[in-house]
Amino acid sequence: MKILVTGGAGYIGSHTCVELLEKGYEVVVIDNFDNSSPISVSRVEQITGKKISLYEADVRDTAVLDKIFSEHKIDCVIHFAGLKAVGESCAKPLEYYDNNLYGTLALLQAMKKHDVKKIVFSSSATVYGSPERLPLDETCKTGGTTNPYGTSKYFQEIMLRDLYASDDSWTVVILRYFNPVGAHESGLIGEDPQGIPNNLTPFIAKVAVGELKEIGVFGNDYDTPDGTGVRDYIHVVDLAKGHVSAIEGTPNNGVYTYNLGTGVGYSVLDVIKAFNKACGKELPYVIKPRRAGDIASCYADASKAKRELGWEAKLGIDDMCASLWNWQSKNPKGYKS
Ligand code: UD1
Repeated sequence: MKILVTGGAGYIGSHTCVELLEKGYEVVVIDNFDNSSPISVSRVEQITGKKISLYEADVRDTAVLDKIFSEHKIDCVIHFAGLKAVGESCAKPLEYYDNNLYGTLALLQAMKKHDVKKIVFSSSATVYGSPERLPLDETCKTGGTTNPYGTSKYFQEIMLRDLYASDDSWTVVILRYFNPVGAHESGLIGEDPQGIPNNLTPFIAKVAVGELKEIGVFGNDYDTPDGTGVRDYIHVVDLAKGHVSAIEGTPNNGVYTYNLGTGVGYSVLDVIKAFNKACGKELPYVIKPRRAGDIASCYADASKAKRELGWEAKLGIDDMCASLWNWQSKNPKGYKS
């Protein structure tokens, strides 16, 4: 089976390519390297000993999409390509809607034209907005998103559902990720944010390699056990395997939505403690004011994916931190190291 992976050079995309190739799938990648590096693709080939067909192009480039679907008999598409920084999306909403909505539209039109009707879509727990209840299950209310990035994910889910409603020969799998962290055990691929990271674990990792001075903990007065924000961190390799399960475990024709998380919440201080253990140092942190838009707690009910796909996260917070440290210490400047 041949899978087209859009955004396959990115953080989650590259880890998913490893799992697909190791399971014997053929992989075609389209990526414009906007927030990723071609080196990750060659590292995936190095890890797996398999080749990837790579197209350097934007997923909005309809001529390239046409070329790909003509040159390869694609069975299924996994769609990661898109912009994903929450803060940046508030400053540049039009870029976010253009990239994310038009990208998905162009892709779906090309798929329809070439009669490829199975898609796994990279969504986010952010579509739940402010959680209606915890843990979040897939029947919880969506919408009420607080930033254009989240709104674009919410709209893309609607686009996919409307498409299926118009033509039930499609198979659509929507995967809502919680907080992906960690790296492949080889230390050859990992998250490589440009500039100062916005997310917690890449920030911690940069403090650990000495690139940043101290961790800022955004608030310690939340209604959580230690007052700091609680999230459902999931190892990126577990998440990547979730995509393979999504392809293999869903019957054809339908729209299926799954949370991919562990179901366990850890606080910011829990994560710092786990990372200290992984890197063998006590990392400095300071308590800062709450970050605008943050919520106290967010974690998944991940039982539907277990029940229906036979998938569950196997790796815990110590594995996540150890693998992140392995990647960051071997590649202190990411793919530019
Ligand atoms: C955000 C997005 C989510 C996206 C995820 C990963 C929202 C509501 N969430 O999640 O869609 O998938 O990023 O890209 O839009 N923190 C600190 N110090 C830091 C950074 C973070 O204390 O320097 C805290 C935060 O307050 C939060 C926790 O760490 O409690 C996790 O933050 P972060 O890694 O940014 O992820 P989320 O905001 O949960």
